[in-house]
Amino acid sequence: MRCGVIGAVSDEVTLLFEELKASGSPVKASLRGNLEFHEGTLRGCPAVVVCCGVGKVNAALCAQILISDFAVDAIVNTGSAGGLAEGLAVLDMVVATDAVQHDFDVTAFGYPPGQIPGTDSPFWPADPGLRAAALKAFERSGKAPERRMVPGRVASGDAFVTEASMRERIARDFAPACVEMEGAAVAQVAAVNRVPFAILRSISDLAGHEATMSYEDFAVQAAHTSAGVVMEMLGILAST
Ligand code: ADE
Repeated sequence: MRCGVIGAVSDEVTLLFEELKASGSPVKASLRGNLEFHEGTLRGCPAVVVCCGVGKVNAALCAQILISDFAVDAIVNTGSAGGLAEGLAVLDMVVATDAVQHDFDVTAFGYPPGQIPGTDSPFWPADPGLRAAALKAFERSGKAPERRMVPGRVASGDAFVTEASMRERIARDFAPACVEMEGAAVAQVAAVNRVPFAILRSISDLAGHEATMSYEDFAVQAAHTSAGVVMEMLGILAST
């Protein structure tokens, strides 16, 4: 299986780039537009790693290039997120059951929040096999014993969520485990192309008034935590 791995910012892919280089297999970098794709092997799994930039358009563009130009069989999106699920703490992890675009709104024409005309549901289901591999990887990743990975919905939108009103609307409309800015765009592109996908996120903040400060303190640690689990996951995928 050739796996595409997408992170939005450099901290989310640095460890993956380092591991690609350390693998001993050749690494090939190629540009498409402003995006640099790094092909190599991660823990025995053929992989293409790329930093897509923040937001849904960047993520969608990147996912389509991974599929069209690099013929990946699966896409994994890694990074940080704001936690919404009850009891979720900073540096816990979420693995997506499904993803939704919380800022997509044609409710004026009778569609449910998040639903895109021409589709049957606002929710894009993640691949169950990849999700199981992510959970197994988390167990193997030597994480601190108090940390956990929970399966749940990922809500994505082109906004860093800090305001109570926005957080409450997203929670009411979608009941997500976390919010971030790319996963559901990757999900839509992957689903349209019938490519399985997974979203792994480590919690950097709780999407409230503390979010900016908490993100500044924990984003790097969260990014590295998620990347570490992705590497473990690719090892599992390579051996199955
Ligand atoms: N990524 C990390 N924290 C986030 C937040 N609060 N809102 C959107 N994306 C995030």
